[in-house]
Amino acid sequence: MTTLAPTGATPQHSSISKKQFGKTPDGQSVDLFVLTNKGGAEATITNYGGAVVSLKVPDRNGKFADVVLGYDALDGYVNDKAYFGAIVGRYGNRIAHAQFVLDGKTYALAKNNGDNSLHGGIRGFNKALWTAKTLSAKDGQSLELSYLSKDGEEGFPGNLKVTVTYTLTDANALKIEYSATTDKKTVVNLTNHSYFNLAGQGSGDILGHLLTIQADQFTPVDSGLIPTGELRDVMDTPFDFRKLTAIGARINQDDEQLKLGTGYDHNFVLRMPMDHGEYLAARVLEPASGRVLEVWTTEPGVQFYTGNFLDGKTPGKGGHTYPRRNAFCLETQHFPDSPNQPKFPSVVLNPGERYHTITTYKFSTEK
Ligand code: BGC
Repeated sequence: MTTLAPTGATPQHSSISKKQFGKTPDGQSVDLFVLTNKGGAEATITNYGGAVVSLKVPDRNGKFADVVLGYDALDGYVNDKAYFGAIVGRYGNRIAHAQFVLDGKTYALAKNNGDNSLHGGIRGFNKALWTAKTLSAKDGQSLELSYLSKDGEEGFPGNLKVTVTYTLTDANALKIEYSATTDKKTVVNLTNHSYFNLAGQGSGDILGHLLTIQADQFTPVDSGLIPTGELRDVMDTPFDFRKLTAIGARINQDDEQLKLGTGYDHNFVLRMPMDHGEYLAARVLEPASGRVLEVWTTEPGVQFYTGNFLDGKTPGKGGHTYPRRNAFCLETQHFPDSPNQPKFPSVVLNPGERYHTITTYKFSTEK
């Protein structure tokens, strides 16, 4: 393990270091891994919930800022209800009435969002302690996190062996590779729940960030934020982000879907190419700093969430609190409630198959 260079300095080589983050309430030790690339960008990740704790990338003048929301101490993550930076599973997003049917058998899940299941249930993957292994990748440093989700956990069938590998590349990308296998037919939908503010965490709202999403359709929802099953054209709606538009330009419009989400909290149907590699899903520019985030993925959907439920009450990093709409999430995924929506792409994983998806958050700057 190498020692960490100060943020903003230019180390010659990438490095990865490990330090203690604290202990869980039941006494288990939790670590923090600091991945630094050769340009000085830095990703700090904990094996508690696999959360990205901080992500420091340069602006157009080479000045670094931490662009994700989070907590300074482990107890923030233990008590967190917003999923800051976390790995979300076994099923990211909502499952209606917290149940689904597979091969004629009904599986009842934990209800943790009204009548629905959200983000894996009461103790989702964001509350799991993952086994960590550091690896050197050809283009940066990697942290491999593994977790065994036992048959019946939160109501889901099958022992699911999950591996999530984070790589901070020398090109300022955070690549996340998700894999899983099961011993019984089950459903899987994994994502990362980082909350981004490209001006720097704690620096205000994200309404002036400029966004494009490569989607011609989105999945409208009901009052419980469950998709109705319709794929609706974005054309002539506030959901049309095919051209660069400020996140806040239409967010308060008198629109039924924006009211149901209290802002954007919707799944976009990505324009997927025919080959199965990663493709560009969304791009965000923060005009003052020039920081750009591109989201590349193999997934068919992305949940665009504007932090509508943030309330500024929970202390975050460096004494910052995070009021409403101080960050946005772009959670790559299969569509919400897919286990109950036969027309949506399937989320079923069978024994003998391997779940494998990739999402990369690429950072750059624009003049
Ligand atoms: C959901 C929101 C939810 C947030 C935090 C997002 O993925 O779409 O409705 O409040 O996660 O749990």
